[in-house]
Amino acid sequence: MDQPRFILSTTLFLAALMFYAGHAKAADLNQGEKLYKANCFSCHDSSIHTRPDSIIHSLSALKKRVQFCESMNKLGWSDAQKGDVVAYLNATFYKFK
Ligand code: HEC
Repeated sequence: MDQPRFILSTTLFLAALMFYAGHAKAADLNQGEKLYKANCFSCHDSSIHTRPDSIIHSLSALKKRVQFCESMNKLGWSDAQKGDVVAYLNATFYKFK
């Protein structure tokens, strides 16, 4: 391979890698919504998140609760999948900063 082509393909490869890494890091709200709607309605529906006596008062409590409900349901989600569902629930219902 001659040098300009090598430099071009290396640059394109690195750009693709950076795009992918940046993309993979941000929580995916659409993915979270899909996971939540497909797996979380066997015990409660989403009205539980807006009940007046909600037990969730912080983002860390929300993370713990999603972790807890996920393990009760034995879903085997990755940390990224749990993160997507936390982000979806927070953006839709809780709105913690
Ligand atoms: C095995 C039954 C069960 C399943 C399945 C389940 N949950 Fe729950 N969840 C509960 C119960 C029971 C409560 C209420 C706990 C309480 O009031 O102390 C609750 C409460 C919650 C709350 C707190 C609501 C609030 O604001 O007070 C969140 C958030 C939550 N669940 C998320 C999820 C998610 C995400 C899933 C899917 C991974 C899920 N749950 C699946 C049983 C379940």
